[in-house]
Parts: sequence; structure tokens; C-alpha cells
Amino acid sequence: MIKHQNIILIGFMGCGKSTVGYELAKKLKFNFVDADAAIVAKAEKSITKIFSEQGEAGFRQLETDYLSELCKQNITGQILATGGGMVLNKKNREYMKQLGVVIWLDAKFDLIWQRVKSAKHRPLVSNTEESKFELSRLYDARSSVYAQACDFKVEIDKLSIDEIILGIVESIRYSEKSE
Ligand code: S3P
Repeated sequence: MIKHQNIILIGFMGCGKSTVGYELAKKLKFNFVDADAAIVAKAEKSITKIFSEQGEAGFRQLETDYLSELCKQNITGQILATGGGMVLNKKNREYMKQLGVVIWLDAKFDLIWQRVKSAKHRPLVSNTEESKFELSRLYDARSSVYAQACDFKVEIDKLSIDEIILGIVESIRYSEKSE
């Protein structure tokens, strides 16, 4: 039994928030929601298009609007996979804490790069040495923000998806026992 109202997964692009979130939701019988997918559905535009038409700032505003809406609805029983940059805004971090327990899926940069370098749907990534360098700088800069935003982190590099899920569930149960 998990007592937290919702579970929010944070972490850098490619750390597996959506894949893990979907499987975790099945295991806990929670509902799975993906922030990027919800924003795309509402805007009726791809993330790349939102970035090119409204800039990154426009996309960040849509992220904040989305989280604010979830808080207003007092939703429960949700696993929320966030976009990798959602934690950057302080208000967003507050909304996440308000929604439930926040888990950081932490992975080494090499694994992240292998996973994301060929993806076409991420406007901040292209498969070039320059992009790899820029992304590694972003990765370094964001690590402390994920650390600050989360209740726990799970280091996922060497774990199977089942082990990641077990790690999350055990961490939450442990924390709930000591509350
Ligand atoms: C972003 C991560 C993406 C998406 C957008 C921006 C980021 O989500 O929200 O491309 O700034 O890290 P994923 O983390 O699911 O790739």
C-alpha cells in the first residue's frame, strides 16, 4: 500500500521517466500521466513546434500551467512523468511537492547520451559533438536542481526496469513508515 497521493518522476531526458512511470502505474494500480504528452495534446502541436513558435519560455509556461491545473484538481492516484526541464522553475518544484512524493531517476551522462542522441522529438538535442557538449553542460547544471527537487533518488544505470520499480516502491514505503 502506498499512502502518497501521487508519485512524480523527475530526471534528465532519457532517464526513463515515461517507461518507468507506465510500468510503475501498472504495478501500483495508479493512473499514468505524461506531462509532455498532455501538453502536446492540449496545444495540438509537437514539442518541437511549440519551441519553434513560442520559444523555450513559452513551453516552460505551458509546463507551469499544466502543473497548476493538476494541483487545482486535487488529483490523486497518479504517476506523473515530467519533462526533464520541468524542475527548473521554483514554482513547479513547489507544485510537485504539493502533488506528492518526488523521485529522481538519476543516470550517468554516457547512458543518457546513448539513449537520446538519435531522438528526433527533443528540440534541445541533435546528434552532433556540439550538441553532446551542450547537453553535458546542461546535465551538470541540472543535477543540483534535481537533488533539491526530489524526496529520493534512484540510480538507474545498472538496474533493470523491475529493479528500478522495486527501488522506488521500497523507498516510498520506507519513508512512509518513518513519517
Ligand atoms: C526537456 C525534456 C523533454 C521535453 C522538452 C524539454 C528538457 O522531456 O520536455 O524537450 O528541457 O529537458 P523528456 O525529459 O521526457 O525528454
